[in-house]
Amino acid sequence: MATMDRLDVAPDADLTSHYAPLYERVQQRISPLDWQLHLPSIDAISRLKRERNAVILAHNYQAPEIFNTVADITGDSLALARLAMDVQADVIVMCGVHFMAETAKILNPTKTVLIPDLAAGCSLSESITARDIELLRQQYPGAPVVTYVNTSAAVKAASDVCCTSANAVDIVNAQDSDTVIFLPDRYLGAYVAARTDKKLVLWHGACEVHERFTGAQIRSLRAPGVRVLAHPECPPDVLSEADFVGSTAAMSGDIRASGATRVLLITECSMADNLAVELPNVEFTRPCNLCPHMRRITLPKIEQCLRELSPVVEIDAAVMDGARRALKRMLDGR
Ligand code: 13P
Ligand code: SF4
Repeated sequence: MATMDRLDVAPDADLTSHYAPLYERVQQRISPLDWQLHLPSIDAISRLKRERNAVILAHNYQAPEIFNTVADITGDSLALARLAMDVQADVIVMCGVHFMAETAKILNPTKTVLIPDLAAGCSLSESITARDIELLRQQYPGAPVVTYVNTSAAVKAASDVCCTSANAVDIVNAQDSDTVIFLPDRYLGAYVAARTDKKLVLWHGACEVHERFTGAQIRSLRAPGVRVLAHPECPPDVLSEADFVGSTAAMSGDIRASGATRVLLITECSMADNLAVELPNVEFTRPCNLCPHMRRITLPKIEQCLRELSPVVEIDAAVMDGARRALKRMLDGR
């Protein structure tokens, strides 16, 4: 979270008073000076959303000043994909990374889909190409290809079906084959392999945020009464230390269902800040690993992209059709 020492201009009293109820909600996570810095953008974005007939979707890893103020729809990758499909507004702004914006465009192609920074990528998405899939299919003829949504539209189009961390085990089990090619996350793949009778062929991709956690780190941070939650993109020695493993939405659900009051959250750092706004009675600890790609999205960039209606997410029509087939199969659970 950015912090400021001083403001160069006097705070706007009208804006401050108009947004006071919103600040009350987020004040534990955003300093008064940062709030003053963010307010002009928050106000401009609210106005531009109405003018452009736009909705803002934000992933659970977005910074608190985006997630808790300008976002209309929030969630994990699966929820954002499902909800993007139902958007009626003319414009979708994806506050997340590029593959999420592509997914929104593929599932709701008549809308203008914007991403505030086109360079918001993902190490998993970078790790594999459609050509790699072609070569794997030659090596394992007949084996279906299940691909994590954290991939480009071209990779999705070369796959049979997509999955997210929320449904990966179910999608693999739904395949009518003893051998399944599962791409590209080797850690999510290992997690799924331990929960299915299928033989999985894995790729070498990894999330640059989650692969940095270690089992030793979790052991050093664990204290009595603390519930440890981890994302399945973490290495196996981390997952074996966790009381619960799941997607970002599943972790949030587990905290509510378990009634935990002290939580060690092993995932991207902003998620704990966002959950702390909703669950002020839960004490969160976490090693602070931030995703540099998610961090590319800022309030000024959201404002600019709504003002200019750019950058627009564009995908080749044939790629879009192929990727939609794989995504729709996932949404149908097969
Ligand atoms: P989920 O929100 O689907 O768990 O995804 C985590 C992630 O790393 C997204 O980039
Ligand atoms: Fe990709 Fe990891 Fe960042 Fe998610 S957190 S966008 S998987 S690099």
